[in-house]
Amino acid sequence: MKLNINGTEHAFDGDPEMPLLWFVRDVLGLKGTKFGCGAAQCGACTMHVDGVAIRSCITPASSIEGQEVTTIEGISGKVADAVRAAWVELDVPQCGYCQSGQIMTAVELLTDNPNPSDTDVTAAMDGNLCRCNTYHRIQAGVQKAAQIMGGE
Ligand code: FES
Ligand code: FES
Repeated sequence: MKLNINGTEHAFDGDPEMPLLWFVRDVLGLKGTKFGCGAAQCGACTMHVDGVAIRSCITPASSIEGQEVTTIEGISGKVADAVRAAWVELDVPQCGYCQSGQIMTAVELLTDNPNPSDTDVTAAMDGNLCRCNTYHRIQAGVQKAAQIMGGE
């Protein structure tokens, strides 16, 4: 099968049930996406498939054939740039382990809704857990990114 990751096609003839997360981290060596729970509970493994945030730890590699996968290494454009800038400005991460998943979810939210309310942000980010309890800075980071986008 052929898997499109960050705009590049990769041939893969391994186990079609291999989780996408394994393919990206272990076969391609892209380590920005993290393994947390392995059970769709924490959001550490969030990637985009055709722009939609998914849990790559429970997504078989074969199920994304013909679709475009974007990982934290591959996100680009106005929304991604604004989120990165906001994360740096507000110093959002603590240990950082959950943050690529947080950013992928934030980018999806702000792509769909460039001007979210605090309630919208809380609802969208709800499934991304953070052991370091950076939730207040994540909330502020998403709003800062919205401001940056609006200010352009
Ligand atoms: S590692 Fe996939 S949701 Fe936790
Ligand atoms: S920053 Fe440490 S788990 Fe979120």
